[in-house]
Amino acid sequence: MSCRVVVLLSGRGSNFQAIAEAQLPIEIVAVISNRPQATGLEYARTHGLTAIALDHTAHPDREAFDTLLADEIERHQPDLVVLAGYMRILSPVFIARFEGRLLNIHPSLLPMFPGLKTHERALEEGVKIHGCTVHFVTADLDHGPIVIQAAVPVRADDTPGSLAARVLVQEHRIYPQAVRWFAEGRLAIFRGRVNLKDDSTSQSVFSTGM
Ligand code: GRF
Repeated sequence: MSCRVVVLLSGRGSNFQAIAEAQLPIEIVAVISNRPQATGLEYARTHGLTAIALDHTAHPDREAFDTLLADEIERHQPDLVVLAGYMRILSPVFIARFEGRLLNIHPSLLPMFPGLKTHERALEEGVKIHGCTVHFVTADLDHGPIVIQAAVPVRADDTPGSLAARVLVQEHRIYPQAVRWFAEGRLAIFRGRVNLKDDSTSQSVFSTGM
């Protein structure tokens, strides 16, 4: 039986697309967006996937919206919920319902640069290496157990846009990898850290895009 995945997104959906096209042992049972106009929903529709818009602006109370969202997700009985550019902070009530089966991708090498504008901040700090992280989501924003990271060099002439583009290439590589590991039952969380089961080389959890 393949792993049932619900994807949450708010916009472009390129990470969702990378996961959908990676021939993983998963079934994407629903794609849900809090923004009805998200292009990611369009991709889902044209590929015969269940695409659902749940407009958060119609539900001003965050907890009420998150409860509605969680109920909708549970209707699809997912083994895994994938946040793919879902641009809203999830309330603790929501996270508690999916903890251990909720993955996110963040465009920095966590724990550096949690939050927004990661590429701008990386350039401001003058870091020489930047990247992205797939992690399990916990109530501690952008600090959940890390599954995989990829690093890219920062170049002297980088702009936030050029750096974001270089990082995005790596996002599209490591997110499908993380989802594959989850689907294969190879990710175990122990004392806040992720162990990759049956891993012969610890190298494979660090993928450098250099
Ligand atoms: C990505 O940079 C991801 O790391 C961040 O939001 C962006 C979403 O891009 N969480 P996309 O919608 O997957 O193209």
